[in-house]
Amino acid sequence: MDKKIKSLKEKLALSKLGGGQARIDKQHQKKKLTARERVMYLLDEGSFEEIGALVTHRTKSFGMDKQMFYGDGVVTGYGTVNGNLIYIFAQDFTVFGGSLSETHAEKICKIMDMAVNVGAPIIGLNDSGGARIQEGVRSLGGYADIFYRNVQASGVIPQISAIMGPCAGGAVYSPAMTDFTLMVEDTSYMFVTGPNVVKTVTNEEVTSEELGGASVHASKSGVAHKTSSNDVECLEDIKKLLSYLPQNNKEKPEDLDIEINNEIRETLMNIVPENPNKPYDMHDVIKGIIDEDSFYEIHKDYAENIIVGFARLGGKSIGIVANQPMFLAGVLDVASSKKGARFVRFCDCFNIPLLVLEDVPGFLPGTDQEWNGIIVNGAKLLYAFSEATVPRVTVITRKAYGGAYDVMNSKHIGADMNFAWPNAEIAVMGAKGAAEIIFKREISSAEDKEAKWKEKENEYAELFANPYSAAERGFVDEVILPQNTRRKLIKAFSMLKNKQVNRPERKHGNIPL
Ligand code: HXC
Repeated sequence: MDKKIKSLKEKLALSKLGGGQARIDKQHQKKKLTARERVMYLLDEGSFEEIGALVTHRTKSFGMDKQMFYGDGVVTGYGTVNGNLIYIFAQDFTVFGGSLSETHAEKICKIMDMAVNVGAPIIGLNDSGGARIQEGVRSLGGYADIFYRNVQASGVIPQISAIMGPCAGGAVYSPAMTDFTLMVEDTSYMFVTGPNVVKTVTNEEVTSEELGGASVHASKSGVAHKTSSNDVECLEDIKKLLSYLPQNNKEKPEDLDIEINNEIRETLMNIVPENPNKPYDMHDVIKGIIDEDSFYEIHKDYAENIIVGFARLGGKSIGIVANQPMFLAGVLDVASSKKGARFVRFCDCFNIPLLVLEDVPGFLPGTDQEWNGIIVNGAKLLYAFSEATVPRVTVITRKAYGGAYDVMNSKHIGADMNFAWPNAEIAVMGAKGAAEIIFKREISSAEDKEAKWKEKENEYAELFANPYSAAERGFVDEVILPQNTRRKLIKAFSMLKNKQVNRPERKHGNIPL
């Protein structure tokens, strides 16, 4: 027996060593943690249980039968984060560059299946040279097995991907189908075709970083939801993100115990400027409403004219979608519509109530927007709100103009409670533009055209640049003082907590993709 125990211990020790100390040192020189170190950092101490530590590949060609590494380039298993069960896979770059073989894929699929069956989040830490080149189509099949499972798991359990090294070729499509993709600056990149292929096909010279580095995907493509400056920060970000999420689509996020008092927030009185054309930072409004330091922003550097993220309100997890007057006056455009829609759908999948803070002058005009499909993309946000059945509350902090009024979680598309601040302007368009169109003849025939225009502008503003026309019809439930907003929202979400909506049976809707 002693001999057998010794043999087991040796095998497990080899498995823990991955591709060997020299390759581990190389990984550290690149300022990257190893797969195992990442798992240990992320999970609660002592909670990790490994599955498949002794798996090896089955390839014989190219001398591969002489290069066997226990674990086959991916550490898989389960454990807890913040006390909650999660499943995890972490690709081990020290073994064949973390490349994906048939058996490597089988290990990932095994824990994905467990995660879905048990109902717990799955975290993927990606650091891989892509398909195991020595395996050919078996590796491609392995990828497709994972992709298929990503889709089956979508909307059932939260799926989080961290890109902590290379992620290239078709391999990018697994993270892309998960709910959140986090990237580490300088050490990670993602692209479908790398710089060499780009140079051959388009003659364009570009570095890996320029083509698919973290900052590019966080600001230009929107592929990355969050970036961090190193592995540890990225793993901390995952822990924080998980704290807002439920374990699966049948559960609600965990509440924190928070004492609720009168909750008046005077700071909210002084944020929106008197002049309706002056910008302000919607982050200040968010900060004034939510529990202290609880905002976790998603897609911070992408489509900055809309803000999305998780927060806590009276200890409860909520999703926030807010126009940002600081960027493009808070208009809706192609990118912000996509960003908002994706976030709304995530929250709806996982029973996270939605708060919308609205200050929107309308959709962005122009050929660029029209040719890039503002119609179909704006429709995504409209569709996402309309189909969401979680509690939905809107606060109009200033402008709610045109089609954007309808889209931004109006009562007409199923919002539960809509509040407006007294300075809100809810109309088809701004008073100046409206006066120019509907009083065109009177203005052009007036002796003092400017004065007439101003007079008509004031007339229109008097009638519509306020929240009362909407309140009279019940499109706004209550006009509230800004300092009462937090109190009103805590009560509204509490009142809505058992909301149930039954939809007609269908296979699935057809969101305009
Ligand atoms: C097998 C691989 C490998 C791969 C790397 N290695 N990629 N082994 N299959 N895909 C091995 C290397 O041989 C080396 O082994 C070790 O991993 C580390 O690689 P290095 O090149 O030394 O590391 P580095 O300089 O950091 O470069 C990393 C890299 C590079 C940029 C990822 O290795 C690379 O370009 N690899 C090939 C990438 C690729 O073309 N993959 C296929 C893409 S197509 P030793 O023994 O020396 O440690 C694809 C299709 C997916 O993925 C389709 C899904 C539908």
